[in-house]
Amino acid sequence: MSETDQNNTASLKIDGKTYELSLLEGTEGDKSIDIRNLLRDTGYTVFDTGYKNSASCSSTITYLDGGQGILRYRGYAIEDLAEKCLFIEVAYLLLHNKLPNREELEAFRVMLEQQALIHEDMIHFFDNFPPNASPMSILSSMVTSLHNFYPEMSGDPLENIDLTATRLISKIRTIAAFSFKKSIGQPLVYPRNDLSYCGNFLNMMFDTPVRPYIVLPEVVAALNKLLILHADHEQNCSTSAVRLVGSAGGNLYASISAGINALWGPLHGGANEAVIEMLEAIHADNNDYKKYIAKAKDKNDPFRLSGFGHRVYKTYDPRGEIIKAACDGILDVLNVKDPLLEIARNLEDIVLTDDYFVSRHLYPNIDFYSGIIYRALGIPTNMFTVMFALGRLPGWIAQWREMREDQDTKICRPRQIYVGAPARKFVPLCERL
Ligand code: CMC
Repeated sequence: MSETDQNNTASLKIDGKTYELSLLEGTEGDKSIDIRNLLRDTGYTVFDTGYKNSASCSSTITYLDGGQGILRYRGYAIEDLAEKCLFIEVAYLLLHNKLPNREELEAFRVMLEQQALIHEDMIHFFDNFPPNASPMSILSSMVTSLHNFYPEMSGDPLENIDLTATRLISKIRTIAAFSFKKSIGQPLVYPRNDLSYCGNFLNMMFDTPVRPYIVLPEVVAALNKLLILHADHEQNCSTSAVRLVGSAGGNLYASISAGINALWGPLHGGANEAVIEMLEAIHADNNDYKKYIAKAKDKNDPFRLSGFGHRVYKTYDPRGEIIKAACDGILDVLNVKDPLLEIARNLEDIVLTDDYFVSRHLYPNIDFYSGIIYRALGIPTNMFTVMFALGRLPGWIAQWREMREDQDTKICRPRQIYVGAPARKFVPLCERL
């Protein structure tokens, strides 16, 4: 981030006084007004609900151009990474700011292998969740609990960051698969070192003592792609939650757990689950998708089309495009005929031409087609957001690390405009009417 020309500043006139504010520019031309001393100098805060106009940090991890539909991790186009990389290669890239060479990738793979088990005592935790417990709540609780079993983060948090990062990336898969197995009452399947990162996860999810799971390369490839597409997305709600908790000195496990909880919401990662529920509702309603379009456009109806719209993308989400293209392929390979796919396509066709959606720049986002692929892979709907968390984890860790290494980091502590009652005289209980 650099300061632009000293003569090129933003002038702010308040109460008859003019303040010159420096302008900042990122490597790809992101422009920002530096207001870090605004309150001190002027006595004013800025009012920005939802942080629509605020850059909360500078970052070297992900570049996103919402107008042109560009997404890059560490400078590499998402299209190349999704097509040509392993998920663990991308995880390494996000964590270390370089694509690994063969030796580095192999060393990372071995580290992940070594960390795949979770402490046996943690396995008892699964027994005590009710049978219908949400896998997202199990995931966030278990990730927080990792701190008790693997407390290396207690001293200098950056000293053991590589070990802790690998631990999290490896163990989250085991925790996710175990929570699924518990929820359906099947015995746990332990990780196997002979399988790839994605193959291992699928095997832990679907292998049973009576019917061995066959790990199909096409299924592994589809999951690999989905995880890469989810791996980071700059300062979204869950990443901001990770940074916020970390800014108070919170340990990595606690920060990631906060990210998982933020992701859960239906406006964020929970949208992939909401999309399938919406498509199923339309299917059950005689495929009457036009009725749902009308509901989404009705200002008096809170209903929104899940899987459409994005805070930053004002064009097609590039991740959505890749997923849409992958969808046909994987359904063909697995010979799955999903009636929801046709409903999804019909919805998309209308949205892309209807003035309500066009004028608001509402396009399909990453969550719109991902659920259809997860269904085809046999992953149940209530695990979809867990899948998102698995993919997003390397990004969260990289963002947490960047925040902790940045000398400029301050505890995240926004201000407010108080609009409550003015000072009131206290009335003792016995005198209150
Ligand atoms: N269906 C119908 N109308 C919509 C939708 C939608 N999905 N999304 C936005 N709008 C309308 C909204 O009503 C508003 O209209 P108006 O200007 O008349 O008041 C306008 O578009 C702008 O919406 P906004 O809520 O101010 O935009 P935002 O940037 O605050 O919200 C969003 C972004 C993603 C939360 C929103 O588009 C949404 O709720 N989408 C559905 C949920 C979803 O798919 N979320 C996944 C996002 S991508 C992955 C991720 O982040 O996890």
